[in-house]
Amino acid sequence: METSSVQDLKTTTPAHDILDLFAERWSPRAFADRPVEPEKIRRMLEAARWTMSSYNEQPWRYVVASRHEDPEAYERLLGCLNEGNQEWAQNAPVLMMSFYKETFSENDQPNRCAPHDVGAASAALTFQATAMDVYVHQMAGIQKDVARETYDVPDDFEPMAGLAVGYLGNPDMLDEGKRTAETSPRSRTSLDAFVFGDGWGDSASFVTE
Ligand SMILES: Cc1cc2nc3c(=O)[nH]c(=O)nc-3n(C[C@H](O)[C@H](O)[C@H](O)COP(=O)(O)O)c2cc1C
Repeated sequence: METSSVQDLKTTTPAHDILDLFAERWSPRAFADRPVEPEKIRRMLEAARWTMSSYNEQPWRYVVASRHEDPEAYERLLGCLNEGNQEWAQNAPVLMMSFYKETFSENDQPNRCAPHDVGAASAALTFQATAMDVYVHQMAGIQKDVARETYDVPDDFEPMAGLAVGYLGNPDMLDEGKRTAETSPRSRTSLDAFVFGDGWGDSASFVTE
């Protein structure tokens, strides 16, 4: 299947008018063997940089490795993913791993929103990528202990997620199960399932009208 047809299939028709970026973004497992320009990587990280965060703590940190620029660094980062993710993520020319600082720098108190804020930063990075035809697939499936040891991560930082980054590849490179997922439309629950009004579980009237 042509990559343009896969993109068409993944582009959703939203129930309400939203920016094209949100309708077009999706998480591939097939990536092209084409380097991502370093300037594009910098732009993605710049988008993360300008994300809002609780008390402007900016608790996010990223390790980035490009197979074309530094294959050894790439292999080390690949080794921090779990096996299931390594299988397909090794198609991606660039890997990242996100981390967050668990405490505020100002007073060492716990920062409850740090995981939220690193997620927001990774979302910003991802949508910046979408705007440049670059794709990001985030991964919870990482080996946190391996990441800690590999990068000598300080105690007050926590590994969060892996990110596979690259241009879209042909789904034919995937095994049958993954190819099916890669060529199936995206789905979501409806607004009334998660937007509440009067009480928990009671859909807000303005989303049911
Ligand atoms: C924080 C996070 C963790 C994820 N972990 C994995 C993972 O470990 N392996 C995987 O194949 N996909 C993973 N995904 C991808 C999700 O399964 C995917 O985003 C979801 O099915 C919706 O599909 P879409 O992104 O194409 O819209 C993860 C996504 C996020 C945001």
